[in-house]
Amino acid sequence: MRIAVVGATGMVGEVMLQVLAERNFPITELIPVASEKSVGKQIEYKGKNYTVVGLQTAVEMKPDIALFSAGGETSLAWAPKFAEVGTTVIDNSSAWRMDENTKLVVPEINASSLTKEDKIIANPNCSTIQMVLALAPLHDKYKIKRVIVSTYQSITGTGVKAVEQLENEYAGTKGEMAYKYQIHRNAIPQCDVFEENGYTKEEMKLVRETQKILNDKTIAVTATAVRVPIVGGHSEAVNVEFENDFDVSEIRQILHNTAGITVQDNLDTFTYPMPLYAQGKDDVFVGRIRRDESQPNTLNMWIVADNLRKGAATNTIQIAEYLVANGLV
Ligand SMILES: NC(=O)c1ccc[n+]([C@@H]2O[C@H](COP(=O)([O-])OP(=O)(O)OC[C@H]3O[C@@H](n4cnc5c(N)ncnc54)[C@H](OP(=O)(O)O)[C@@H]3O)[C@@H](O)[C@H]2O)c1
Repeated sequence: MRIAVVGATGMVGEVMLQVLAERNFPITELIPVASEKSVGKQIEYKGKNYTVVGLQTAVEMKPDIALFSAGGETSLAWAPKFAEVGTTVIDNSSAWRMDENTKLVVPEINASSLTKEDKIIANPNCSTIQMVLALAPLHDKYKIKRVIVSTYQSITGTGVKAVEQLENEYAGTKGEMAYKYQIHRNAIPQCDVFEENGYTKEEMKLVRETQKILNDKTIAVTATAVRVPIVGGHSEAVNVEFENDFDVSEIRQILHNTAGITVQDNLDTFTYPMPLYAQGKDDVFVGRIRRDESQPNTLNMWIVADNLRKGAATNTIQIAEYLVANGLV
């Protein structure tokens, strides 16, 4: 496979290169791509150096697969150009996720819908991926009516600039700001820009993408997304109301049997998921699984994952692996 990594110098791009190497993805030629300012830079992959090229050069090289993580505008403008030369694009930005002709894929849930004709495939938002991975098997069994989610999101979700902001604030030096406010010692109830309804784009992604991936528009979702000065991953407090009643131990068992999920839920040993320990791991961690005693058929859980791994790079590469394994590229 000739693989282009678009955004190879960025936060997600760097983890993509790590994950490709770890999983021994069958690469015959790696094409690292970034903005004009990075063209000519050297990127190391499996002990060899590769030169960063620009988007036009990469299109002309006609890679088999292009893994995009270079922002929405780049994806909107360039994904179709790659698709036109026969490349399959797997895109990490929000540009194509809600496009009705583009599939939004979490491999454990809906990769089987992919065909050779899908030339642009969307990778869901990081906070959506970790939540739907836990919701999907529970929706199958008990049918979800409503989800209330509050997120505690890592600054790594905002890219290199945000990590630099926090480091500058730790050190007490002035620098470029990724957020409107200091993030060190703070919690900012704004992830991404506001929409007209008063919710942020990140909050509405949790609503729309969940319905699209679970293929059920009747699921009601409401979200509050908060940025916190954490680097290891995103955490989510998720309250789920089902149509049917459940047994908490059965829920634990279903999640335990779900590929990609690790249940960490033992109050005797104070075992529950935390971003410090999820960092660098591919799984989604679920714990604090308990009945919401304030109303019937309702569950509370705490879901944590490394947003750069399962929330971005790992999910993208799992899609690519599925395409290769099923002869779809
Ligand atoms: N961070 C996350 O957890 C996460 C999760 C899911 C999805 N995403 C999405 O992934 C994308 C990248 O996020 P990130 O956190 O990795 O950001 P980042 O650290 O700021 O990196 C951005 C990357 O895109 C490249 N780029 C920017 N403008 C470009 C252009 N006009 N042409 C070509 N390359 C360009 C940059 O190249 P230079 O170094 O040359 O500027 C860099 O490689 C975004 O769309 C984001 O929404 C991020």
